[in-house]
Amino acid sequence: MADGEIRISIDKLIDIVQSGGKIRTGVDVFNKQGRLILERDVLVADVAPLLRVKKFGVELISIVSGGDGGLWDETGQPVVVKSETPPAPKPAPKPAPVSEIDRRIYEIEELRRAAAEKASLAKNNLKNALRQIQENGGKFDFEPIDDTVRELFDFVSQNETAFSYLTREIFSYDQYLYNHSLNVCVIGTVVMKKFNENFNAMVNNHLNNIPTSINAAAAKDVPQAFKYFQDDELQDISAGFFMHDMGKVLVEKSILNKKGRLSKSEFEVVKAHSTRNGIKILEKNNLINPYLCKISHYHHARLFEDEERCYPAEISPLDIPAYVKVCKLADIFDAMTSKRCYKEALNPVGVVADIFHKYAQKDTLLQFILHAFVRAVGIYPSGSVVSLINGQLAYVLDSEGPALIAFTDVEGRPLTTKQDIMVLDKKAEERGLKIDRRKAPMDPVQAHKILPAYLKTS
Ligand SMILES: [Fe+2]
Ligand SMILES: [Fe+2]
Repeated sequence: MADGEIRISIDKLIDIVQSGGKIRTGVDVFNKQGRLILERDVLVADVAPLLRVKKFGVELISIVSGGDGGLWDETGQPVVVKSETPPAPKPAPKPAPVSEIDRRIYEIEELRRAAAEKASLAKNNLKNALRQIQENGGKFDFEPIDDTVRELFDFVSQNETAFSYLTREIFSYDQYLYNHSLNVCVIGTVVMKKFNENFNAMVNNHLNNIPTSINAAAAKDVPQAFKYFQDDELQDISAGFFMHDMGKVLVEKSILNKKGRLSKSEFEVVKAHSTRNGIKILEKNNLINPYLCKISHYHHARLFEDEERCYPAEISPLDIPAYVKVCKLADIFDAMTSKRCYKEALNPVGVVADIFHKYAQKDTLLQFILHAFVRAVGIYPSGSVVSLINGQLAYVLDSEGPALIAFTDVEGRPLTTKQDIMVLDKKAEERGLKIDRRKAPMDPVQAHKILPAYLKTS
């Protein structure tokens, strides 16, 4: 180490900056591929550059205090810290077990861990962006948000049930906003993917079932709102989902936190989060992208002609693009299935049924979106726990089937050895073995806390 050089963990530096301090490394920081990721003379007073450094896998940063480098607290006084030794190398991941069931349990556990990591980074980036908006008159650094959404998009593309691994047990309002934004992004993205799949199936079906001579005429009957969304459009849409409620940062917390019914004037203030604030923030940051703007502006608009308490009221549901309607459904679903300090989470199975009941049979596009929505969320994800009609609790090994492993007896007493897989198909239902739909399934995050050791790896 050079004279005056100390090594500090990135997390400690983030703490210092988060508490109002500043740092300057005095030495260039490179990632493992040799790319410069933080310049020696940059005075860091914001966590965003440090989070980016952390994202590159850098765990320790050198601070050379002999030159320009140093650490200062919020009053400008130097912070005295001891150099930290490099962290012990992480233990090698456990080798994947060999049996098919154990391999699946291992995959589910890895997915749960990866989802928790991605969620934490995404929420941190959103938290920073919202803080910047408040401190800098609406300006924020879009790059970390863009990076986050791209990562989430890739993750969701590879794991369609990823949304099930995100927590819905939120207490403070700030935490709720970060979680809700993340959940709406992830759920909405899966729905959009299903929308595309359904669109392809519909077009193929359409073209296969009509004589070629009238294909062109039939194609004209397809309403404009029906379209396939390309990947670059989907990424913009996902970013729109993630930022849909950003305008709430300009609404007083006392109103957002109010538990009872809002007065007329309070409701007007809340409405402004989408009808004015969101667009104002996007414009201020030159993010004039139609997907971001429309989602921000119209995600509380009417989905059908007579829907009440929607805003802005003047826009016709026919003029609302499909992806904005998806945002609204994801928003409602997440709000109803999240646990808050003043309300219990509702059973997602019942919430899907309620949403379906409210919006079904209104128009063809909405029906089409609902179908995609139900396909995306109306399943028992791998890693969750369901109640069976006979009183047993069972772990979902695979949502296809679904394939389950019971881990309690009918009295709810734990079973000490791993049972065989049971598939709850039609035949099982005929024998009277089925999921008790009146009881809410436990999501994988909650389920992990009650699973026996033989159904988890940690
Ligand atoms: Fe909203
Ligand atoms: Fe929302």
